[in-house]
Amino acid sequence: MRTHTDQTIGWIGTGRMGYEMAAHLAKGGADVMAWNRTRAKAEPLEKLGAKVAGDLAEIASRDIVFCMVSTWDDVEQVMTTMLKGKSRPRIVVECSSISLEGSAQLREMLSARGIEYLAAPVSGNAKVIKAGRLSFVCSGPRKAFDEALPYLKMIGPAASYVGEGELARIVKICHNVFLGVVTQSLAEITVLAQKAGVPRHAFLAFMNQSVMGSTFSRYKTPAFVNLDFKVTFTPALLRKDMDLGIDAGKRFEVPMPLASATRDLIQSMIGRGWSEQDFATLLLQQAQASGIELVPENVPVADGLS
Ligand SMILES: NC(=O)c1ccc[n+]([C@@H]2O[C@H](COP(=O)([O-])OP(=O)(O)OC[C@H]3O[C@@H](n4cnc5c(N)ncnc54)[C@H](OP(=O)(O)O)[C@@H]3O)[C@@H](O)[C@H]2O)c1
Repeated sequence: MRTHTDQTIGWIGTGRMGYEMAAHLAKGGADVMAWNRTRAKAEPLEKLGAKVAGDLAEIASRDIVFCMVSTWDDVEQVMTTMLKGKSRPRIVVECSSISLEGSAQLREMLSARGIEYLAAPVSGNAKVIKAGRLSFVCSGPRKAFDEALPYLKMIGPAASYVGEGELARIVKICHNVFLGVVTQSLAEITVLAQKAGVPRHAFLAFMNQSVMGSTFSRYKTPAFVNLDFKVTFTPALLRKDMDLGIDAGKRFEVPMPLASATRDLIQSMIGRGWSEQDFATLLLQQAQASGIELVPENVPVADGLS
């Protein structure tokens, strides 16, 4: 008799997020088989005990299949390909940040084949996953959540169940609209303080200890102080999430003035060619618009994660 942590797991998408998530499962002892479009990115998982699939048909025969790709179009593409053959998983746990509409379409596609579906987007970047602090927000059948929960807990400690259907999607969209707006706001006030004469590390040290400081402001501080913009989350993926937020605002007739302005600032950053760096490059754009050139302060600052 198989136990609740004895399911075979399929993993689709081993990009920045997917790789670390699948690695946690493999390290936790789960029976994981991963597939990635660019196979080389999945291969290091073999050292952790996972198998690497040659095609999506192999993934279809696993009990629970997780998916972590980029956009709804990508999710649709991998799911359609996975379901071409005869095999099918019992449960799909879809973790990419996608629209309510895409998620509902996926639910229809899966339920027509008798597959249960949990929408399970996440909060946190790859470093947050490594630090064991990723959180999931989930919606769909409670039974599917309960079955997936032991695996979610292997990846991150927090998994909230918010109800049926696509509710988790709107929670994640709201979360990332906040991420964009907060990052732009932090860039504005950091540049303002600096132009008035306060070093960024001193300003952010105060902010991080104030009531306005957060896990996020702390873990973005090294990038803001020392200008390390190695990508954690691309400007294009953040723009996608701002667009999802603005579209949801239209659908539910909610004005989103701050989200709209921030979306266009992210667009400007991409238009300037700053698309391969971290989205925190919003700081550089703000500095340029303020007529100052930033230089790394080369001050060691903690990110609050390690
Ligand atoms: N990075 C973050 O901080 C963060 C945080 C929370 C949520 N998210 C969300 O998580 C998702 C993944 O983000 P990420 O940062 O991990 O992105 P990423 O590093 O760009 O990885 C994207 C993954 O999707 C795969 N992929 C994309 N299009 C595909 C297609 N058409 N067919 C097959 N595979 C495809 C890529 O395969 P290849 O390797 O072959 O390109 C790669 O494995 C996104 O929805 C993002 O919004 C990201």
